[in-house]
Amino acid sequence: MKYTIGFMLLLALAACNQQGGNTQQLQAQVDSLQHKLDNTYKPGFGEFMSSVQVHHNKLWFAGTNNNWKLADFEINEIKESLDDIKTYCTDRPETNSIGMIDQPLQNVSNAIQQKNSMEFKSSYMILTSTCNSCHQATQHEFNIITVPTTPPYSNQSFKPVQ
Ligand code: HEC
Repeated sequence: MKYTIGFMLLLALAACNQQGGNTQQLQAQVDSLQHKLDNTYKPGFGEFMSSVQVHHNKLWFAGTNNNWKLADFEINEIKESLDDIKTYCTDRPETNSIGMIDQPLQNVSNAIQQKNSMEFKSSYMILTSTCNSCHQATQHEFNIITVPTTPPYSNQSFKPVQ
């Protein structure tokens, strides 16, 4: 009996040790994964904004060419980049101000759905001035967005497919 209890204690001790070893191993794996995550490349706020800038420009030429399919595509690209900011830039206080662009974006979306050229132009102006309102609100007032006069690239046509 004495031996059996001793043996069981030994077993239990061995199991504990084993578990301790596993925990250490797991912790080391977690630490190494955390290290990898911390060093993973993720685009910054400014990079997402540069993407928004390109699509904001293309959106104008799509809409003014009555290319509503392309305009719809471009506005969704803008929405995606803004969503990415909400996901990946939570450490930036400026992210809290992003909601101010939701309604102006929705108004442009509605004009696109209605294929309404006049509405498109006027809602695009308001969208553009909201870009600047947010830049002002976030101390980036030196980034001034305007209605574009030329498309960003010469190798894309904005005419609708016939
Ligand atoms: C959260 C409010 C907010 C809204 C809304 C917003 N921006 Fe920005 N934007 C910023 C901030 C903050 C920066 C500076 C980012 C940085 O630190 O690099 C910026 C930077 C920029 C830049 C400079 C990027 C660079 O690195 O050269 C451009 C271009 C830009 N925004 C375009 C736009 C356009 C176009 C819109 C509207 C469709 C828009 N932004 C809407 C906050 C906003």
